[in-house]
Amino acid sequence: MRRVQIFDTTLRDGEQSPGISLSVEEKVEIAHQLARLKVDVIEAGFPITSEGDFESVSRIASEVRGPTVAGLARIETPDIERAWEAVKWSKRPRIHTFVGTSDLHIEHQMRSTREEILERAGEAVRLAKSLCENVEFSPMDATRTDIGYLAEVVAAAVEAGADVVNIADTVGYTIPIEFAAFLRELRDRVPGLKERVLSVHCHDDLGLAVANSLAGVEVGAGQIEVAVNGIGERAGNASLEEVVMALKTRGDHYGVDIGVETRQLANASRMISNITGYEVPPNKAVVGRNAFLHESGIHQDGVLKDRRTFEIMTKEDIGLEGTNIFLGKHSGRHALKDALEELGYTLEGEVLKRAFVRFKEIADHKKTVTAADLEAIAADEVGSFEGKFVLDSFRVVAATGRQSRAAVAISHQDHGTFEAEAEGEGPVDAVFQAIDAATNIKGRLTDFRIDAVTGGKDALGEVRVSVEFEGAEYAGRGLSQDVVEAAARAYVRAVNGYTAGKAGATRVTSKAVTP
Ligand code: KIV
Ligand code: ZN
Repeated sequence: MRRVQIFDTTLRDGEQSPGISLSVEEKVEIAHQLARLKVDVIEAGFPITSEGDFESVSRIASEVRGPTVAGLARIETPDIERAWEAVKWSKRPRIHTFVGTSDLHIEHQMRSTREEILERAGEAVRLAKSLCENVEFSPMDATRTDIGYLAEVVAAAVEAGADVVNIADTVGYTIPIEFAAFLRELRDRVPGLKERVLSVHCHDDLGLAVANSLAGVEVGAGQIEVAVNGIGERAGNASLEEVVMALKTRGDHYGVDIGVETRQLANASRMISNITGYEVPPNKAVVGRNAFLHESGIHQDGVLKDRRTFEIMTKEDIGLEGTNIFLGKHSGRHALKDALEELGYTLEGEVLKRAFVRFKEIADHKKTVTAADLEAIAADEVGSFEGKFVLDSFRVVAATGRQSRAAVAISHQDHGTFEAEAEGEGPVDAVFQAIDAATNIKGRLTDFRIDAVTGGKDALGEVRVSVEFEGAEYAGRGLSQDVVEAAARAYVRAVNGYTAGKAGATRVTSKAVTP
């Protein structure tokens, strides 16, 4: 059977989703889960864009074993050298270099000419190849590129040694039948391409990313670029779980082999959703919480008699069958670590210690701590940033028809404790005003979201905020049974992110360079 490689770009294109900005620790944790999922390639980031991206690609390259680790680079020499510096620690490093090839991109973005781009693409691949054994080249906006010119660029990349040529439908413009014909014609025009891996990278602007990717497989693509839960620029990338389960469930049609451990799909999907804050719609194919629920009587009756009457995949295949994890206040650190591992988290050292403290606090108030609670605690602690400000305590008085009043005590690692009181429009606003006064840093709340982690009156509340300081936005997340406390923790994290200028509370302004 022909092998199709799954190239996961959750940590690169996925992270380019509006509002997502992951810390180094979060990326490393996700990369470990991608390795458990057995994807073939992890695109760990775009090293030239920031110190944080460089560090996360380097850490993933050194720590995560199994998949190839790729770093993205424009066709610029510094980008390619920086990508190599980051991926070189991997047992299987890859440099992925790209350039826009449509006239729109060449003229309006690159302000260049077809001739120049053709020459520079070849040179870039040659340089990457001189550093790294495994090189991928992507013509960006390939599907809106004149096919004659695209063939010339791809031939130059192949000639320069590209191992993988990735045809990007950057703006999600193509449609399946057209894409298949386009790829066939490209292969006919570039005979050398048959010796290399043909890859496809499809965006979901028209909701066709998965269909287009599968059309690529039909005509011989040997690699598909995907992201968990389909996150990515604008409407996102092809969803990993949908592509994988389509290839598996319809193996009779596609007849290809994939290495993915599908039983890890549910863990991966929940982890990405918890860490990024991007919820999975209930009716999402494969991993949505309704994907295996049956509402109509006829369907329920059929499923009770034989699940195959109305189900084409099994929950077990996806790892959705649920866990038996229920921890309580007497559970120890070992039990917590084991439970977290079952859920896909490999917390160690300080992070595990903090997670255990949080778990104990929560278990003191909640009879049973469920898998969903543990996932929320783990996602929270993985990303938690050891900032200088810590919320020591708060008090709020709220009453109908009156301004709320809050008092907070906040300690600063180097400068002791600050106390302040403030009034506000409701308890959350009052606490935020008091935090501004205590820290002497004025933020502007731009987004506030609150969710219950599980059902029930004793559910944990999860609050996510975006706060603007000096024109830049910082995100923070807080978790507590008391939603005002969760909000206060989230806000303090955003303040810490701002004062440190670093992720954890994560900076959500866009990066300097994004494809
Ligand atoms: O969408 C795109 O063109 C990309 C490239 C970098 C492959 O993400
Ligand atoms: Zn993309």
